Amino acid sequence: MIVDAAIERYLLSLAPERSRIQRTIENDPPAAIVGPLEGHFLYLLAKINDSRRILEIGTATGYSTLWLARALPPDDGHIVTIERDPGRAATARANFVSAGYGERIEVREGDAFAVLPPLEDRFDFIFVDILRNLSRAEEAPQLYEICLSLLQPAGLLVADNVLVDAQVIMPNPAPRVQGILEWNRRVAGEMEATILPLRDGIAIGRKTNY
Ligand SMILES: C[S@@+](CC[C@H](N)C(=O)[O-])C[C@H]1O[C@@H](n2cnc3c(N)ncnc32)[C@H](O)[C@@H]1O
Repeated sequence: MIVDAAIERYLLSLAPERSRIQRTIENDPPAAIVGPLEGHFLYLLAKINDSRRILEIGTATGYSTLWLARALPPDDGHIVTIERDPGRAATARANFVSAGYGERIEVREGDAFAVLPPLEDRFDFIFVDILRNLSRAEEAPQLYEICLSLLQPAGLLVADNVLVDAQVIMPNPAPRVQGILEWNRRVAGEMEATILPLRDGIAIGRKTNY
């Protein structure tokens, strides 16, 4: 975590209320979830961008998805979220039904590299939360290309963990980190972009070259 723990505690004291399901996930997370500060930030980005077609890659049990769902207008919008772990995908589906989003959030179970290419939808907001799970250097740039092809003009591509516990500035980066370095170079060089040192780093790019 890059943010000082005491600062994070202070900011958490100001975080907005979460639903019962989100609180339950916060207390016993199935994986590294975004948490309230980053979740709220994702919500704001999606809301400011008036996002209606949202794609999430890396659902876990739906904590971040529920933040994104809050940003949808009451009568419009849809989220597709991808998770390869069958148990987590099933729990996420149940959570979405309990939260009243059963009809608006679609969980696609499977590996993102298999699920994404055939998708015919185009999205105005894509949130990528699997960069830390990749292993080969070529995977992150490959995922970046797929995401760009699925993003609407002026859409936002948001990726978590782009600082990889500061491994991006260490000598001899591991293949996974080399891939994330390339992700950051592409986002910074090809999109209207910023990389924020919130938690483990968030890269935000707006698609402008289309
Ligand atoms: C960091 S967790 C997601 C946390 C979630 N976004 C949240 O904040 O609540 C990453 C999830 O992505 C899944 N995952 C990792 N690699 C994947 C891949 N290639 N395709 C689909 N899911 C993947 C993992 O099983 C894990 O549940």
